[in-house]
Parts: sequence; C-alpha cells; structure tokens
Amino acid sequence: MSAPTRVRMVRSSSPEETHAWGVRLGRLLQPGDFVGLVGDLGAGKTHLVRGVAEGAEVARAEVASPTFAIVYPYRGRIPLYHADLYRLADYDELYATGFLDLVGGDGALLVEWLDKIPEAAPRAFLRLTLREVGEDARELVAEAWGERPTELLDAWLPENR
Ligand SMILES: Nc1ncnc2c1ncn2[C@@H]1O[C@H](COP(=O)(O)OP(=O)(O)OP(=O)(O)O)[C@@H](O)[C@H]1O
Ligand SMILES: [Mg+2]
Repeated sequence: MSAPTRVRMVRSSSPEETHAWGVRLGRLLQPGDFVGLVGDLGAGKTHLVRGVAEGAEVARAEVASPTFAIVYPYRGRIPLYHADLYRLADYDELYATGFLDLVGGDGALLVEWLDKIPEAAPRAFLRLTLREVGEDARELVAEAWGERPTELLDAWLPENR
C-alpha cells in the first residue's frame, strides 16, 4: 500500500481519555467517511467507537460490541455503521454480507479488525491503530489516505509535537 498522506499520533492514559478522543472524532464525521480500526484484542477499538458514537449523537443504548452480526447500524446525527471483520475469512465472505454496499453511502463506517481484510477499505480512508503500552496506556496512530480523510485527521488530532 502507498504511504499515507498524513500520520498523527496521540497517547491515551485511560479508557476515559480514549473515549474522549472518540467523541471528538464523532463530532466531525460525515457521510462517506471510512474509519478502519486496528489493534490486538482489548486494545480499545470498541471503546473508541463508543466515544465516536456519542460524538455522532447516537443513543448510548444502541451501541454494542458487534459480536453476532458483522455490521450494526446506528442512528445519530448521521447514520453510523459499526462493523467487525474479526470472524470473516476473506473478501468473498465480506462481499456476501452486503457490507460493501455501505461504503461511500449515506453514513460513516467504523470497521474493527480492518487488517483482517484490508481490501475492504476504499482508496480514501482513515486507519487508526491502537496499541497497549501499559495497563491503562494506549498509543493511537492515525493514518490518512486521501484528501477528505486528511482534512478529518487535521481537524481531529493536534499536530505531532
Ligand atoms: N487507555 C485506554 N483506552 C482504551 N481502553 C483501555 C484503556 N486502558 C484500559 N483499557 C481497557 O481495555 C479494554 C479495551 O476493550 P475494547 O473492547 O475496547 O477492545 P477491542 O480493541 O475492541 O478488542 P476486541 O478486538 O476484542 O474487540 C477495556 O477493558 C478498557 O477498559
Ligand atoms: Mg472490539
């Protein structure tokens, strides 16, 4: 894959802080935005997504950890689709779920375990990689490919110091 257009990194020292980064992102999301989340089990992907959902004005009760379905639709300020590719084998299996019809559609997509099927991402997207660097500490690396994701990233995270 080509080099990202923009890369930024932040640290979180608590679940609450990760949630707050999510809220900030959720306020900025627009239909068509595609956000892939990458990181080991328990890295904080779902935690971040819950924050994003709050920032996008989704009722708290709606937000689940996508365990039984591949895609959960949420109704917020804009439609939000929360997907988890963990249990999928390959692109063909993903194709069969109808997920791809949502890409570039009426809502924003948040896709956990994007690294399982990287071809699921469109050309322009934001990839967030979470890494555990201590019991409650996480490193968040955000990489944007393309114009809109770069604008989104610039608006979301402060410049690296
Ligand atoms: N700084 C932090 N940010 C986010 N989560 C944290 C942080 N510190 C500790 N945690 C804990 O790490 C866990 C993250 O769980 P979460 O379900 O968000 O992970 P996940 O990446 O979605 O995992 P999975 O791949 O299993 O879906 C939670 O139990 C949370 O309380
Ligand atoms: Mg998760």
